[in-house]
This record gives sequence, structure tokens and C-alpha cells, in this order.
Amino acid sequence: MEERSDMREKLVFLETFGCQMNDSDSERMLGILKGINFARTDDPGSADLILLNTCTVRDKAEQKVYSTLGRYKELKKARPGLIIGVGGCVAQQQGEKLLKRAPHLDIVFGPHNVHRLRELLLEADSGQRVVATRLTETIDADEYGVTGSSSGEKAFVSIMRGCNNFCSYCIVPYTRGREVSRQSADIITEIEGAARGGVKEVTLLGQNVNSYGASGGGAVSFPELLMMVCRVDGIKRVRFMTSHPKDIGSELIELFGQEKKLCRHLHLPVQSGSDRVLEKMGRGYTSSGYLSKIEQIKALYPDMSFTSDIIVGFPGETDADFQATMGLLRTARFDNIYSFMYSPRPNTRAAGFDGQVPLEVRTQRIQILQEEQKGIALERNRETIGRTVEVLVEGPSRGNPLEMMGRSSCNRIVNFACPPGFEGPGCLIEVVVTEAYQSSLRGRAEGNH
Ligand code: SAH
Ligand code: SF4
Ligand code: F3S
Repeated sequence: MEERSDMREKLVFLETFGCQMNDSDSERMLGILKGINFARTDDPGSADLILLNTCTVRDKAEQKVYSTLGRYKELKKARPGLIIGVGGCVAQQQGEKLLKRAPHLDIVFGPHNVHRLRELLLEADSGQRVVATRLTETIDADEYGVTGSSSGEKAFVSIMRGCNNFCSYCIVPYTRGREVSRQSADIITEIEGAARGGVKEVTLLGQNVNSYGASGGGAVSFPELLMMVCRVDGIKRVRFMTSHPKDIGSELIELFGQEKKLCRHLHLPVQSGSDRVLEKMGRGYTSSGYLSKIEQIKALYPDMSFTSDIIVGFPGETDADFQATMGLLRTARFDNIYSFMYSPRPNTRAAGFDGQVPLEVRTQRIQILQEEQKGIALERNRETIGRTVEVLVEGPSRGNPLEMMGRSSCNRIVNFACPPGFEGPGCLIEVVVTEAYQSSLRGRAEGNH
């Protein structure tokens, strides 16, 4: 979009919904836009371009996109030059239909078309309404060539896209396509660039990172890729998500003992504690298989923290099934969980299953689950009192601007008062935990390193 470069700086308002894949795609969008003279604004009213990067994992997420989009109708009427685009998973799922639904919408582009944003904008500028939802089965190096425009101490890097698991409830394989891994060399080049820009912590992203390399990506396995990332100068911490419990192998488990940079946190979505439900979900493990895996890891690394995703009210979930999930919750003692009420999604097998659970029951179950987890989270956090944790400092604490906030290796939020000689955000600092709350810790800083 050469003609744009001579013009005044333009403004983009970008709102991101959904998972970290979308966060990472939004960073790519901002990177592309920066190259054609766009700056970011918090005010949609002053924007030349409004982009929504959307999620459709549950119906609520999808509905939120439509209501948000509706709000921009008046803006478009007032300023016909304004361009509005919808990217992400709703765009992929709805495609053309979205243009019909929202006459003020100019661009619909799916997750495989993010790298084409510049040409899509050119088409929209010339007055066309554009739909770009082609799913591709390979990843070209230049698709991820543009690194994010944001600066800071943390970077999220997609190492693969798509998913082949087709869990019976999940729409992701339909919106993100088949699983494809990026070339390891491209990933490392991106991370080296981020490290030169000051990034200290990198999170490798994929729907199922353990199967990295199975399709595309050369001959490198996920543990091998992790080792390569740990070798990058300047990178102090390495995280990854999401791991599928059925694919956690011994090589990966051993790596936690060898690589100091690998953070002591595993996000391991269990979804349910009932074997009957797990079977119907198509998850490929049992409740006892899951628990023995985390026991095995805890025995090796007692300081490892575990988080999980849980769905309540899957079709046919009985009270006994739900009690099995509660039992698993008490045994696993997760540090944190993300819990969801089952939501039927188009194209998925589970949407056609018998025994859809009424909303009242789903609501009641999720409340019981969340209440129990609150207590467990507090207990788990209290267990850290007196320990020294290494914190990567992110910035001022939310609750108290005189304190700083960062995250421990096991991903807990830690607040602390700035010690003398404090180096500022981006540094690693040892903090002795003195107080524990449900979702954060407070401590006393011991010093930078
Ligand atoms: N790839 C990851 C998670 C992807 S989606 C994994 O396999 O674990 C994130 C979470 O959303 C899932 O773990 C699941 O708990 C939840 N989720 C997905 N589809 C859902 C649906 N139809 N209803 C409710 N929750 C859902
Ligand atoms: Fe969805 Fe299952 Fe793939 Fe996760 S592993 S993205 S839950 S289909
Ligand atoms: Fe949502 Fe798509 Fe992520 S459906 S959870 S944004 S992969």
C-alpha cells in the first residue's frame, strides 16, 4: 500500500477476543499495519480502520462479536471512509454470511489470511467488499515474517496452527483447519528477533503443542524445539500451551529437569473427570490416566504448577459424572482452572448428541465447581508462603501503583514493593512470598539478577 506511506498517519482500532492464538495474530496484524503507517488508537470514534479479531469457541463469544460489530454501524454511517474488518474464527466460520448480516462491514478474513491484510485493505479502499477465508495446508515463512509491533518483556509465538483432534464439542478444527507446524528455523529466527528487541520470556503457542512436527516443521520434535528456544541468547524463560494430556511424553517430562529456562507450569486441560464423558468427548485418556500423569510429574518436580480447562454440562452429563469431575478437581488440586458451560457448536458431533443439559443445571454445576476451585487455589497459593520465587517484572501493580507486579516461573501473579536499585520492568527478581490470596501473592524483593 505504497500510496499510504506518503499520507498522514492513520489510526487503527483493534479489539481481540478469544485465545492467545488470536492475541498472536493481532500482533501480526499490528506489525503489518505499522508498516503501512497505521498507529493504534483506543478510540473507535477516531479510527480510520476498525478490526475485530474474533472467537467462536462458545456461542456467547460469537454473540459478543455481533453486538460489538453492531455498535460500529453508526460510525460507518457518519464516516463512509471508515473501513471495518472482522478477522479470526467467527470470520472463518461465517465467511460471506457475515457481509450479509452486517452491511457496514468491508472485510472478512480468516486466521489463515492474516498475512494478506495489506492487500485486503487495498481492495477495500477501492470500494470492494472482501472475503478471504481460504484455508491452506502449508505455512509459508513469510506468513509469520512480520513480528509483532508491541514491545515488552513477553512474546507469544505460534509454532503451529490448526488441530487434528476433533474433540466432539470443539469448533476449532473447523475454524483453524488441519494441524500444520511452522519450520523450526523460522520460529527461532522470530524468537531471536524478539530477544534482540528486549523480550525475556517467550510462550510457544499451538492447540496441541506436543504434536509439533507431526505435520510439517521438518524433523524437529517438540522437546527438540524447546531445547532450541532455550538456547536463544537473551531469552530467560520459555513457556508453552496448550498440551494435550494424551500426548505428554517422557522426553518432555525429562526436559523440565534439564532446562532451567523452562517454566514450572503446565496447562493441561482435562475437560471432565468422568470416563464416560471423556470417551464421548473423544479425548483419548481416562480420568485415572490423567491423574497418574500429573502425579508422575509432581513426584519429579514438586514445585510444578498445573492449570486446566473444564467443561460442565456436556450432553448426557449426569450428576454422577459431574461428581466425578468434582472428585478429580479435589485430587488434582489445580492452581487455577478455566471452566466453561458446554455450548453446542455448529458442525460438531456433540451438538447432535442426546441429553443436552438444561441451562439451570449447567449454571448450578459451574457455580459449585468454581466455588470449590476458589478454595483450592487459595490453599495452593498459601503453600508458597515463605518460599523464594523468581519473578519476571511486568510493571506497576494494578491495585497499588507503588508496588510492582510480575509472574513467577509457575505463572502466579506476584506483587512486591520496589527494592532500592530496582532495575524496572523486564528484570528478574527474587521475591520471598509473605502473603497469599486467591489469585495472587505478595512478597518481599530480595534483589535483581
Ligand atoms: N486446544 C486446547 C483448547 C482449545 S479451546 C485443548 O485441547 O485443550 C479452549 C477451551 O475451550 C477448551 O479446552 C474447552 O475447555 C473449551 N471449549 C471448547 N469448545 C467448547 C464448547 N463447545 N463448549 C464449552 N467449552 C468449550
Ligand atoms: Fe479443540 Fe480438542 Fe483441538 Fe483442543 S484438542 S482445539 S479442544 S479439538
Ligand atoms: Fe476462539 Fe478460535 Fe481461539 S474459536 S479459542 S479464537 S482458536
